[in-house]
Amino acid sequence: MQRTTLVTGASRGLGAAIALEQAAQGNKVAVNYCSSNDAAEQLCARIRLAGGVAMPFQADVRDEAQIDHMIGEIEKALGGVDVLVANATGPQPMLSIEEQTWQAYLDQLEFFVKSPLLLLKRVLPGMRQRSFGRIINIGSEVMELGNPRFANYVAAKGAQLGMTRSWARELGPTGITVNLVAPGWIPVERHAEAAADELEAYRLGVPLGYQGAPLDIAKMVAFLASDEARFLTGQKFSVNGGNTLS
Ligand SMILES: NC(=O)c1ccc[n+]([C@@H]2O[C@H](COP(=O)([O-])OP(=O)(O)OC[C@H]3O[C@@H](n4cnc5c(N)ncnc54)[C@H](OP(=O)(O)O)[C@@H]3O)[C@@H](O)[C@H]2O)c1
Repeated sequence: MQRTTLVTGASRGLGAAIALEQAAQGNKVAVNYCSSNDAAEQLCARIRLAGGVAMPFQADVRDEAQIDHMIGEIEKALGGVDVLVANATGPQPMLSIEEQTWQAYLDQLEFFVKSPLLLLKRVLPGMRQRSFGRIINIGSEVMELGNPRFANYVAAKGAQLGMTRSWARELGPTGITVNLVAPGWIPVERHAEAAADELEAYRLGVPLGYQGAPLDIAKMVAFLASDEARFLTGQKFSVNGGNTLS
């Protein structure tokens, strides 16, 4: 069955891979972006060239009015959102405790708690009506690792997981599932400048011995979005080569 998937922050990185895979699975894809209009257009053109359906939708997903407008436009163009992938992220500054401010925490909470909440509230009535919905939050392994100088980001990712579990329990009876995919360090465009020794140190800690690719995340999301995943909810799926085995 062809469904409509909204992927936030899909102009590049993991979001772009998730959008491509959703289209490959036969879903119509709403490619959200904030400022990278050309990249979003190019991704949609690539999907259409391969026979898929995709359209770009601009919105700052931290803003309720912009979300409301965007979902309205998606509904008109592609139908109601069946699969919501909350993936967008802004800058993720690494800061010592001395450097951290409450605002630095709020900046991360805006992306990983506020935005998924506003998005869910906007798509939920339609999902309830159709008795189907897949909410997939993109989390992180940092929750398990407790990376130093990163508590602003780690705290928000932790909150996102708690929220996922609570939503899953609340929405269970409606047929809407809520899960979280926790990627390991998956190099994307923004990691182009990452130091070779940093990449190597990370790789050495991964039981499988290599870093994953965006497609590894996209495949997990595709499974969770599918009918086959109907009995999975409230779970965290670590896609990190076993990096968080303890
Ligand atoms: N890559 C990794 O190693 C990794 C590891 C663990 C978890 N994650 C998680 O995976 C998700 C994606 O990360 P990524 O590495 O793929 O990020 P990325 O490459 O930096 O991409 C971020 C995306 O978010 C969009 N965006 C930024 N601000 C936005 C806003 N206000 N509203 C809507 N879209 C906005 C960007 O589009 P514009 O340019 O148009 O703003 C871009 O498409 C995040 O939740 C991140 O925490 C990533």
